[in-house]
Amino acid sequence: MIKVKNRPKPVRFNVAVSTSEKAASLVSELKHKKKEFLTCLFLNSKNSLIKKETFSIPALGRGLPQAKHIFSAAIDLKASGIVLLHNSTSASPVPTRADKTIVRQLVQTAKRMAVNVADFVVVAKDGYYSFLNTYTNTSRTHSYISEGIQPSLFDLIEYAPPAYIKKETPLPDIKQKNQEGYFGIQNRRFLGNKFKLLSFIEEITNEKCGDFKSLCDVFSGTGVVGARFNRKDIRVISNDVLYSNFVSLQTFLGTKTLNLKTLEKKIGYLNKINALSDNYFSENYGNTFFSLENARKIGEIREEIDKIAENSEEKYALITSLIYATDKVANTVGHYDAFRKNLDSLRPVRLLIPDIDLANNHNNEVYNEDANSLVKRIEFDVLYMDPPYNSRQYCDAYHLLENLAAWEKPEVFGKAKKMDRTNIKSGYCLKAAPILFRELVENARCKHILVSYNNTGDSRDGRSNARISDDEMFRALSSRGEVEIFTRDYKAFTTGKSDIPGNAERIFYCKVVR
Ligand SMILES: C[S@@+](CC[C@H](N)C(=O)[O-])C[C@H]1O[C@@H](n2cnc3c(N)ncnc32)[C@H](O)[C@@H]1O
Repeated sequence: MIKVKNRPKPVRFNVAVSTSEKAASLVSELKHKKKEFLTCLFLNSKNSLIKKETFSIPALGRGLPQAKHIFSAAIDLKASGIVLLHNSTSASPVPTRADKTIVRQLVQTAKRMAVNVADFVVVAKDGYYSFLNTYTNTSRTHSYISEGIQPSLFDLIEYAPPAYIKKETPLPDIKQKNQEGYFGIQNRRFLGNKFKLLSFIEEITNEKCGDFKSLCDVFSGTGVVGARFNRKDIRVISNDVLYSNFVSLQTFLGTKTLNLKTLEKKIGYLNKINALSDNYFSENYGNTFFSLENARKIGEIREEIDKIAENSEEKYALITSLIYATDKVANTVGHYDAFRKNLDSLRPVRLLIPDIDLANNHNNEVYNEDANSLVKRIEFDVLYMDPPYNSRQYCDAYHLLENLAAWEKPEVFGKAKKMDRTNIKSGYCLKAAPILFRELVENARCKHILVSYNNTGDSRDGRSNARISDDEMFRALSSRGEVEIFTRDYKAFTTGKSDIPGNAERIFYCKVVR
């Protein structure tokens, strides 16, 4: 925790700064300055300006000594985000390479201090340049602090393709559409998801695996890793033991012939449902995980999906839309082991349209089975494995979404109203994990194996301890070929309160020769 002695007092300006255009207009005086300045706008969750501070700086390319002060102030002011603005002394606002490097470093420092840099804007005589607009690949102005969907500049910079990717074969981006009415595969909370590590994973895959034609993400979770490599000439195989994950993997990576216009109409129809009476979902999860109104509507919509879906692709897409929308209004900290005491997630649930690229999915496959049995049946070039790290079962954390997706209305138990999950417990969360891992590696018919594994180390909470030791992982992979380990510091999304010191995300790579 960073301590700041003189706590700055929030000032209410009553100015809403929700776009780069508006932000730039607040520093118009800087455009004509001969010296370089940096202005910081501190915003609250409604995009209102809490404080504006301007510093004289030597030259952006030489770093920013005030960075730590700005980020500490943001913490003290409880700002939901900050927008940094800098004046270019030339007429053009387009940043130089050195400027871009500094912005990247700045945003990474902010991330370490848990400060959301919503945008970095360069203003000049000839106009302004917004990093947010550039990274979201649109000239459209974005709303800075919006409800859940808006990623920080850090996410976007992290997500930007690594520099060395060959120009002729660019890998597709997962669109940061954030467009009114749409959602992307990455727009959900999921423990251990690799969204922020995609560049890292991609760099190693490209460097080590060359021109591969198929990739199997056998513990897919959200599916963002498969999605990162999804293009017409790569067969992406996704798999997860949870049905709720399978449904959304099908939607984003498996769908081939879905009529998107019809889907849009049906989503519009479901949003208009007015649910006034109780149902299975509201009786079990109303007034705890959700407001009663939202729980009623979610249950009613789920019931209606089974009636209106004309084929399985449509059904998967509608359920996926409901799962993502449900998670946005859940009164939780990102998983369903418990609900928060104060029920303040009162926004009405609203289904959005999944942003699907049907053309890239034409040769993809999606499975809903145990990873160990799947690898015995299929062949591919690259195996990417991201198994659970510890004894925390994903079916416990996401029981509610699983129940909603399957909609078999089983009896539920305890405070968190969990159903019987015996059939979906993962062996990778049990003592048998090292044996299962070894078996999977031995049976995989592929040319390359990549494994993401977090060195959470040993903690007092036994549930956090890694199930497979580095040594066990190394020995299992060595049975197929030489192993290399790549490390990058990474702040894991833990559900506990504290960060685990030395927490690093690693990738084990093995070129299969035996
Ligand atoms: C660490 S998460 C994967 C996260 C994923 N890479 C992402 O970016 O979203 C592990 C996933 O493995 C799934 N899983 C656990 N045991 C499994 C098994 N035996 N077979 C298939 N999937 C399994 C869990 O349901 C969970 O979604």
